[in-house]
Amino acid sequence: MRYLPIFLAMLIAGCGSEGPETSGPSEPTSVVETPVVVTEVLEVVELDPDSGLKMTGDWMLVRSNCVPCHSAALITQQRGDAEQWLGMIRWMQEKQNLWQFDPDTEARIVAYLAENYAPEPNRRRAALPADQMPPNPYSTPSAETGP
Ligand code: HEC
Repeated sequence: MRYLPIFLAMLIAGCGSEGPETSGPSEPTSVVETPVVVTEVLEVVELDPDSGLKMTGDWMLVRSNCVPCHSAALITQQRGDAEQWLGMIRWMQEKQNLWQFDPDTEARIVAYLAENYAPEPNRRRAALPADQMPPNPYSTPSAETGP
């Protein structure tokens, strides 16, 4: 897991350095756009090497408020919608000495949790039809002839 940032850095650096060599004058943008497309399709979100939290949105707010008492694994293995996450927070506030949050902080924590650790059926959208997929830079010519 610790190598993911390095890998991503190499991937991005690699794409960048290809620019001058491979891009002809006709299509300079395709090389630049590739990393963005890959990120969206695979929904790659880097994980914090220490906590395992998804490093997106208000994750640092969650790290500072939700990891002091227990491992973040309790969070990352849990799933819930906003109401369910708020219920767990209320339970910890009642029974486990969790402090009160100001409304804005609480809303941001719950939004992060509900978005990144949502109930399973909502976690993945259906795969795109083949004809809506972006070009795969690694595919062989035969694989590219779709329907
Ligand atoms: C003041 C200490 C404390 C803080 C801060 C804290 N928790 Fe907890 N939490 C607990 C305790 C104690 C448990 C019960 C641990 C156990 O069962 O071993 C727990 C359990 C949990 C569980 C498991 C609940 C279940 O039903 O299995 C989740 C999920 C969780 N916490 C999420 C969070 C989130 C999200 C935050 C930040 C908003 C947070 N915790 C902050 C004390 C805390």
